Amino acid sequence: MKIMGINCGRPGGNTEILLKEALMACEEQGAEVVWLNLHDAKINPCTGCEACMMQVEVKKQPPKCIFSGKDDMDAIMEEMASSDGLIISIPSFTVGPHGLWKVFTDRWLPYEWALQIKAGIVDKAPERVAGIIATGGATLNWQTMTLAGLSVPMFMQSFKVVDMMMGRRMASPGHVSIVPKYLEQARKLGQNVAEACQMDYADVKYVGEEQGWCPVCHNNLMIKSEPHWDGLTYKYECAMCGAGGDFELDENGDLKFIVAPNGLEHCRLFNEGRANHLEELGQIHGEFFKHIGEVKEAMGKYKAYNPRRMFK
Ligand SMILES: Cc1cc2nc3c(=O)[nH]c(=O)nc-3n(C[C@H](O)[C@H](O)[C@H](O)COP(=O)(O)O)c2cc1C
Repeated sequence: MKIMGINCGRPGGNTEILLKEALMACEEQGAEVVWLNLHDAKINPCTGCEACMMQVEVKKQPPKCIFSGKDDMDAIMEEMASSDGLIISIPSFTVGPHGLWKVFTDRWLPYEWALQIKAGIVDKAPERVAGIIATGGATLNWQTMTLAGLSVPMFMQSFKVVDMMMGRRMASPGHVSIVPKYLEQARKLGQNVAEACQMDYADVKYVGEEQGWCPVCHNNLMIKSEPHWDGLTYKYECAMCGAGGDFELDENGDLKFIVAPNGLEHCRLFNEGRANHLEELGQIHGEFFKHIGEVKEAMGKYKAYNPRRMFK
C-alpha cells in the first residue's frame, strides 16, 4: 500500500505538520509513503489549448499535454497513479485553497481517467481513496471555499474522499503542533485513509466529520440553481458535486438538504453525471463549429485592436 502526501505550505508550517501526523499514522498501518511539496516541483499553468482533449476526441490518440516532458507533471502523475491513497494538506489563501493547488489540478485533464478510458489506454479507472486537510489563520468564514475547492478535482483522478478536516485560527508556522485536537484529527484522517486503502472499494464510505449541507459529498457550499443545458432544473444544488435538491426543515427545526429523486443526474462524483457533462461539451463544440464562419468574421475587430501590452 502506497500513500502519497501533497502539501504546498511553508517548511515547518501548519499544513506540513498535519500532513506529517497523518502520514505517520499511515506508516503505522504498514503504508509506504511519499511526500511532495508543490513548491519543489516545476508545474507550468495550463494554457487552455485543449490539445489533450482534441487528441482523444478528434485524432483518436492518447491525450498528451503540450508540456509533457517539459516540466514535472508526468513524474508527479505517475507517482499518483501508482499510489493507493492520497492525502493533501493545503493552506487557505484568500478564502479558498492556495493558488498552487489550482495550477496543479488544472493540469490533471490529460491524465483524467475518463479521457484515458476514451482513448482505450485503460478499461476502467483505478479505485483509490483520499483524505483532505485544509488549514487557515481564521475561522470557517474566511475559509469558506477551501474544502470544496480541494474536493472538486478529486473525481478527475477517481479518488473517493473518506475524510476531511479543517484547522482553524492557525496562522503562524508551527502553531498547530501544540493543538492536540487538530493533531488527533489529522492522525485519525491518516488511519481512515490507510484503512480504506485495504477495504473492498464498494464498502469505502466517507467516515469523517460532517462538514455541512451536502449528504453526497459532505461539503458546505450550496447555490441557487439555474436550468442545466438539457433543461433539468433543481431549486438548489451543491457547488462542489452538483447534487440537486431542496431544503426541508428537520425534526429540530433546522434546514436539511434533501437530494431530489433525479438529483444525481448531473453529479460530478458519478460516471453518469460526468458523461452528461461530456455530452454538454460535445453540444457546445458542435454549436461553435456550426457558426465558425460568423465567428471568423466577428473576430476581425478584436484581432485588429491591439492595446499596449506589458511584457510582450
Ligand atoms: C497571502 C495569504 C492569504 C491568506 N489568506 C487566508 C484566508 O483567506 N483565510 C485563512 O483562514 N487564512 C489565510 N491565510 C493564513 C494561512 O492559511 C495560514 O498562515 C496557514 O497556516 C498557512 O499554512 P502553512 O503554515 O502550512 O504555510 C493566508 C496567508 C497568506 C500568506
